[in-house]
Amino acid sequence: MQSFLILNGPNLNLLGQRQPEVYGRTTLEDIRDMCADHAKSCGVEVEFAQSNHEGVMIDMIHQAKAVHDGIILNAGAYTHTSVALQDAIASVEVPTIELHLSNIHARETFRHHSYISPVAVGLICGFGANGYRLAIDALCGWLEEHA
Ligand code: DQA
Repeated sequence: MQSFLILNGPNLNLLGQRQPEVYGRTTLEDIRDMCADHAKSCGVEVEFAQSNHEGVMIDMIHQAKAVHDGIILNAGAYTHTSVALQDAIASVEVPTIELHLSNIHARETFRHHSYISPVAVGLICGFGANGYRLAIDALCGWLEEHA
């Protein structure tokens, strides 16, 4: 069975309470449950994780190499700052989908640049919590095409 790491970065533990006008009212626990259900119906396993710490996220990406077939990464604000996360994804060569709840291109200009996009197989943003389902489907489809 295929296995995906769904990795969430800083402040995403506050989903539901954090700027609901931007990120919606769905909590990260709701998203985790939704991902588990959706992954099951697609026949894939998921490990769902969140960290506020860049180094912890890098360690998890390194560990994914041996364990997971793909990564879905919502790196939060580290998207716009972290060369180290870009290097980690490039180093492990595990296909990675970049994900954001909000449409980062319709927001402040500092959010328009992503260090993740150049090393991602694709980007999903602007669809709120449903983006996680879309990302699982996209990763399944990508892996099928690249088998
Ligand atoms: C985010 C977008 C980022 O710009 C922001 O820093 C986040 C969340 C999103 O899911 O829309 O923390 O990744």
